Amino acid sequence: MLLIGNWKMNGLATALGEAETIAAAAEAALQQGIQLALCPPATLLRTLSHHVAGTPLLTGGQDCHVEHFGAYTGDISAAMIKDAGAHYVIVGHSERRQNHHETSMLVQRKAQTAIEVGLVPILCIGEHRSQRDVGQAESYVLGQLQASLPELGSNAQIIIAYEPIWAVGTGLVPSLADLSSMYQAIFSFLETRLGNKVNSVRLLYGGSVTQNNISDLVKLNHIDGALVGGASLTAASFLSILNEVCN
Ligand code: PGA
Repeated sequence: MLLIGNWKMNGLATALGEAETIAAAAEAALQQGIQLALCPPATLLRTLSHHVAGTPLLTGGQDCHVEHFGAYTGDISAAMIKDAGAHYVIVGHSERRQNHHETSMLVQRKAQTAIEVGLVPILCIGEHRSQRDVGQAESYVLGQLQASLPELGSNAQIIIAYEPIWAVGTGLVPSLADLSSMYQAIFSFLETRLGNKVNSVRLLYGGSVTQNNISDLVKLNHIDGALVGGASLTAASFLSILNEVCN
């Protein structure tokens, strides 16, 4: 089981204390089979990774460029994220797809680059409310997955986070029946596409995860944990989610 916090564009140096409190809980969590990770903003990644080194709390970047280096002002490469101490990098988050017009083709290249430098990509997919309303959620999400999934070499690992766009930051969560059916569809797609390598994939849910809904979510088949936004910003709320999973 994996619980990954995505801080998005939140967190100044004063937030490092939250990460330290979370790190202090990471060993006990791991003993219960729960891996904790935080994806802070790029400005905190190196320092935060350094602060929590020696604990099982892993860190991740929130995005990377498709190229390893070059004249791309303001961008950050996967190699730099790895160099800053990260284990993961999020690619294709709906906020990047929407605000930065990232296509699945671009996201696939980002995921591929991440794997090349030894990071584990957290590949996000998810439908708009309008697509769910007309019964096209699964076909849209599978299309996105098909187009965004990188080639997985023999040792490569990947995390796929299903995050319905209408559930991110809204307090809304799909019904358990809709989630069951979506995860079955995603898993079947991956099994067909990857064969045995489906074991290198872990599936997360993201979108308004809190201490109140996590227990039901992680009981569902094929959900291996959660990508948590707002509720990961303080150690208190992130660890309350952890407590629910442990109970
Ligand atoms: P949220 O964000 O938990 O605040 O809805 C989740 C995400 O965007 O990863």
